[in-house]
Amino acid sequence: MQEGKGNSGSRMLRGFTHRFVPSPNGNPRDSTTLLLLHGTGGNEEDLMPLGREVGRNFSLLSPRGKVLEGNMPRFFRRLAEGVFDLDDLKFRTNELADFVRMASQEYYFDARKVVALGYSNGANIAASILLLRPEVLLGAVLFRAMLPLVPARLPELSNKHVLLSAGKYDQIVPTEQVRELEQLLRKSGAKVSLNWAQSDHSLTQDEVNKAKQFLETHYS
Ligand code: MLT
Repeated sequence: MQEGKGNSGSRMLRGFTHRFVPSPNGNPRDSTTLLLLHGTGGNEEDLMPLGREVGRNFSLLSPRGKVLEGNMPRFFRRLAEGVFDLDDLKFRTNELADFVRMASQEYYFDARKVVALGYSNGANIAASILLLRPEVLLGAVLFRAMLPLVPARLPELSNKHVLLSAGKYDQIVPTEQVRELEQLLRKSGAKVSLNWAQSDHSLTQDEVNKAKQFLETHYS
């Protein structure tokens, strides 16, 4: 696909196939933008309905991960389940952060009002952006995230709210990984709400409702 519009409403910018849907309320400059980050094997369409459900008045920016595992898009390379290629993760984190900044100029949304909503692999790169490029996000909803990396220096995350929603019976994300991410975010000053869903790696309606409430409380 060339830079510009594709067949399905998706566009290409900086090598990222993505969709942008402005806030139904009018000017994207006045709204919060939700950065939607899908899980392994997903694409830019996956989280659009969820994004609209939890952020009725938000603009939605949804990129597709550039890394392919077989034919499954992801946001960064992994060596095995839960074992990440850290060099690639750092590179991809910066690349995605730069894309968000560039998209704010392309679509005229306020770069200071971007909140990530990520699921699984998408939540992991959202956490990595918070840790390495905190200026890009005002906050985040992280569904099924683990600790993606330990940064050389603690980021400054005070005034950022993070909803960390984990599955009590998740076989992909170990409980200690959730706790470690929670502690690192708190140590960096983030206001973390930790929710344990009665679920495995799949999302429940209850945590979707909690995400909606979280976004309404902190970012509407
Ligand atoms: C990852 O690779 O980011 C995590 O293991 C979650 C996933 O399966 O995508």
